[in-house]
Amino acid sequence: MTEKYWEVPDNQLALQIEKLSKIYNNKVNNIALDDISLNVSVGSIFGLLGPNGAGKSTLINIISGAVIKTSGKVFIWGLDIDKYRKQSKLAVGVVPQELNIDAFFTPKETLNLHSGMFNVPKNNWRTDELLKLMDLTDKAEIYSRKLSGGMRRRLLVAKAMVHSPPIIILDEPTAGVDVELRQKLWTYFKKLNELGVTIILTTHYLEEAEFLCDHIAIINKGKIIANETKKSLLSKSSQKVIFITLTNDKITEKDKNCLKNIGNVKILKNKVEIYFDPRHTSMNKVIETIYKTDLKILDLSTKNVRLEEVFVNLIKNN
Ligand SMILES: Nc1ncnc2c1ncn2[C@@H]1O[C@H](COP(=O)(O)OP(=O)(O)OP(=O)(O)O)[C@@H](O)[C@H]1O
Ligand SMILES: [Mg+2]
Repeated sequence: MTEKYWEVPDNQLALQIEKLSKIYNNKVNNIALDDISLNVSVGSIFGLLGPNGAGKSTLINIISGAVIKTSGKVFIWGLDIDKYRKQSKLAVGVVPQELNIDAFFTPKETLNLHSGMFNVPKNNWRTDELLKLMDLTDKAEIYSRKLSGGMRRRLLVAKAMVHSPPIIILDEPTAGVDVELRQKLWTYFKKLNELGVTIILTTHYLEEAEFLCDHIAIINKGKIIANETKKSLLSKSSQKVIFITLTNDKITEKDKNCLKNIGNVKILKNKVEIYFDPRHTSMNKVIETIYKTDLKILDLSTKNVRLEEVFVNLIKNN
């Protein structure tokens, strides 16, 4: 879809950042980005993680041209943003953190309007194709203010795609979105990526990064503290958690101590969470231990929290 418009750069890099710094208002205590360097390969889904105020949006805004960098180099699809400001801007579509939609236009009008704004020739307008891709065809003609939050988010993704950029940047694309819709959005993002679009996303949901991304960078206080493939990052931990819901909120000291044989135990009313390392504690031992207790179990599930553990440790130590 995008290849016919954008030739892949020789170095296969969608984004190249070299020694980038941003100091807001020239004040030394306003260092939002501190000499960061990173590369994003063509075709990847790259996750940018970090706590509030780490510098993620600043970085995205520099790439999109909304914020001016203090120093350093940025190449978007091989184009130096200092030399090719306009062209490099065309190589990215940005879905911002805030849901700013044109409330009085229909999704169809919104996409047509934006295609015009980007000077896309009318016979290349992708409005219908993008509405279909984002599952909005049946909402094409209604006022955008009548769309639900999730539909608005999808419309913003479509809007960022009108000029067929080879890179799309999603700043917290699923913040405040319910679980079901979040998973649907993940499917759309994967679909876009399969169509050849390089995706850069920021998120606070580590599960999202673990599911979607193939490469992850972690920013803390304006510095990159991790930058590697998801696989290599995850190999640094193997933690799992068991969630148990009890039929009542009574748990005896004896049972609590018994559960400690599995791992770290957290109890909140009738919810029990046990964090453990499956390399040292087998699932068999977990089940045997739980069986020995008198717990009245309503529900039980397990989840990998590997990225969460790696993330928390990195932030704590940097
Ligand atoms: N326009 C601005 N003027 C001055 N300081 C700013 C401005 N925008 C951001 N900052 C500061 O730069 C730092 C990085 O902010 P940024 O918005 O990039 O963080 P973030 O990682 O996106 O955080 P969040 O997860 O909360 O969205 C923060 O200390 C913030 O207060
Ligand atoms: Mg932000």
